[in-house]
Amino acid sequence: MNKVYNFSAGPSILPQEVFREAAEGVLNLNQSGLSILEISHRSKDFMSILEEAKSLVKELLQVPEQYEILFLTGGASAQFYMSAINFLPEGGTATYIDTGVWSAKAIKEASKFGKIVPASSSKDRNYSYLPKEHHIPNDASYLHYTSNNTIYGTQFSTAIRSEVPVICDMSSDIFSRPIDVAKYAMIYAGAQKNLGPAGTTLVIIDPKICGKSGRNLPSMLDYQVHIENGSMFNTPPTFPIYVSMLNLRWLKKQGGVRAIQQKNIEKANLLYQEIDSNPLFKNEIAREERSMMNVVFDAISPEIEHAFLKFAEENYCSGIKGHRSRGGFRASIYNAMDIEGVQHLVDTMALFSINFNKTNH
Ligand SMILES: Cc1ncc(COP(=O)(O)O)c(C=O)c1O
Repeated sequence: MNKVYNFSAGPSILPQEVFREAAEGVLNLNQSGLSILEISHRSKDFMSILEEAKSLVKELLQVPEQYEILFLTGGASAQFYMSAINFLPEGGTATYIDTGVWSAKAIKEASKFGKIVPASSSKDRNYSYLPKEHHIPNDASYLHYTSNNTIYGTQFSTAIRSEVPVICDMSSDIFSRPIDVAKYAMIYAGAQKNLGPAGTTLVIIDPKICGKSGRNLPSMLDYQVHIENGSMFNTPPTFPIYVSMLNLRWLKKQGGVRAIQQKNIEKANLLYQEIDSNPLFKNEIAREERSMMNVVFDAISPEIEHAFLKFAEENYCSGIKGHRSRGGFRASIYNAMDIEGVQHLVDTMALFSINFNKTNH
């Protein structure tokens, strides 16, 4: 069978060795004769998986001591409202940077619990750039933003500075580069890109910001409850946590986030170079705002777009169709995509262009 290269935005590619280990864990976890799918979440085997997952997050991202690591459910989308009800008092204000569909969804959910003031937005040009100036009111309970815009292919290269606590949705670029966790009160990320399979959401939280909203929260929506119970308030998503742990072990073996960042830069440069030099394709995002994870681009006409989508599929490039809200193409080149895969896509684009020129001249 030919190798298929998976450029999907999420759920997405994970290393082959993680798939093999996960398969082994499904059949016979640690030679126990039991499957990861059937053991108790309070068993010694699972507790040690959870502890290792948390400690790998702390080690790989150099998380300061006071922060807590949670593995929750409900996807990153649940964090849109959970962060609001935990940190926004009745009648309070929060400020949001709107750089895409996911930011806008976070704003919509938070608006149900308080006043949301826009800090900045790039909606006027269909989220094709990153705003440079942010208006952050001093009385805002927090600032929320999305570090990498999965759908539009833009990414903040550095943390946004703010006097108020910062909450960041890092769903699509966490573990792709070093971050200074101390700059954030809370970071959250759906697992299904650089962390593991769909089904768990990582939360890195400074407990100091909890307990200030004055709301009587349902236990499942209260970060403090999850912190006090070490992500074990209810049955945690055991299998996604297990695979995430295996994937973090893999990342550590690759040399950690600094080493993977170098590879990610190389891969992104290779692909953007082809897009910029191939006359059939274009990307109009400013170079310094382009995402290293989700490379979004367009064909120069709808006919070429249609033809290349077909050609790419025939050439084993899977998942490059752009998000339905934007169209065009999107090649997600997460940590587990190696440079050979990106080279394959580049070669496919170049071959498509040669064939196109032959038939049109
Ligand atoms: C940046 C970002 N935030 C939030 C989400 C929503 O995540 P979920 O589907 O886990 O709720 C996504 C999904 O792709 C995303 O890319």
